[in-house]
Amino acid sequence: MKKYLIYLLILSCIFVCSCGQKKNQQQGEDAEAEAKMIVSGEKWLDTDGNAINAHGGGILYHDGTYYWYGEYKGDSTYWNPKVPSWECYRTEAGGVSCYSSQNLVDWKFEGVVLPSDTVNESSELHYSNVLERPKVIYNDKTKKFVMWLHVDSHDYAKAAAGVAVCDTPNGKFEYLGSMRPNDAMSRDMTLFKDDDGKAYHFYSSEENKTLYISLLTDDYLKPTGQFTRNFIDQSREAPAVFKQNGKYYILSSGCTAWDPNQAEYAVADSIMGQWKVMGNPCSGKDANITFYGQSTNVLKVEGKKDAYIAMFDKWNKTDLIDSRYIWLPIKFSGDSIDIAWQEKWNINEAFK
Ligand code: DGJ
Repeated sequence: MKKYLIYLLILSCIFVCSCGQKKNQQQGEDAEAEAKMIVSGEKWLDTDGNAINAHGGGILYHDGTYYWYGEYKGDSTYWNPKVPSWECYRTEAGGVSCYSSQNLVDWKFEGVVLPSDTVNESSELHYSNVLERPKVIYNDKTKKFVMWLHVDSHDYAKAAAGVAVCDTPNGKFEYLGSMRPNDAMSRDMTLFKDDDGKAYHFYSSEENKTLYISLLTDDYLKPTGQFTRNFIDQSREAPAVFKQNGKYYILSSGCTAWDPNQAEYAVADSIMGQWKVMGNPCSGKDANITFYGQSTNVLKVEGKKDAYIAMFDKWNKTDLIDSRYIWLPIKFSGDSIDIAWQEKWNINEAFK
């Protein structure tokens, strides 16, 4: 009887321990799944535990790694008294940051790849100026990583585009200078590299009223002089361009400084051809104000069919460094797209 009781006690202990282990394992798996969720509008931390500082950014995929380049904002925001006509909140330009990831969720800080100039007040990269919306593409012929960005004076009057190059995606970029491409103003901008290796610069011009699309030279360092004027007098900003199933798409915002407004998208059969305006792609809570965000880039998830992520900035105009990120999957139906609000989602589950 005594022996039987001892056996029973041992069996009960084994059962309790294995239940505990299973519970711990389940909790671990739940925590891991939660950590891999994209939670828009929350503070996103890099692998060192610091807030990701890469605003108005874009993503380059190269040799199995995603590189996220963005505005590295300084941590004191002020209202620029020299621009009384609009809400010109400013912060020191910190240059362009770079983060790397293999899974689009865990981001390692690679450093500031184009630092601002803290000494020379006459430098275009001086921290008192504006350095916004950097984008990087790779040139297969020159083997250079080419960055274009919006370079402006503190009051946004310069309206120029700057160019920088590097031999590696995460090295220090060499700044080559700025220009007004095609002799026209250039503010919000993006780059798009097509499948044939040609690259295009999309930028808000003519006081942000008209969006220019400009073919770049083969080395991607200058405009060729071939350009089109699009959405004339429609004041589109924050362009994000992508290609799916042979069609080209532009996602953009209206012009309301740091405040959110309604997004719009357009579709075309060729980049320099006619763009057809399709309306607001957003749906769900706060879709009429882009979920409080503004477009910056559309990212293609490698190795998955029709897997695209729309990236938005949720600006915090009175504390710009604390601006957040909104990333949402894009759904396609013919030429139409839908970007539905989701508080949290998982990339692997969204794109099977
Ligand atoms: C809207 C632009 O999209 C941003 O990049 C920034 O330039 C703000 N305007 C400044 O108000």
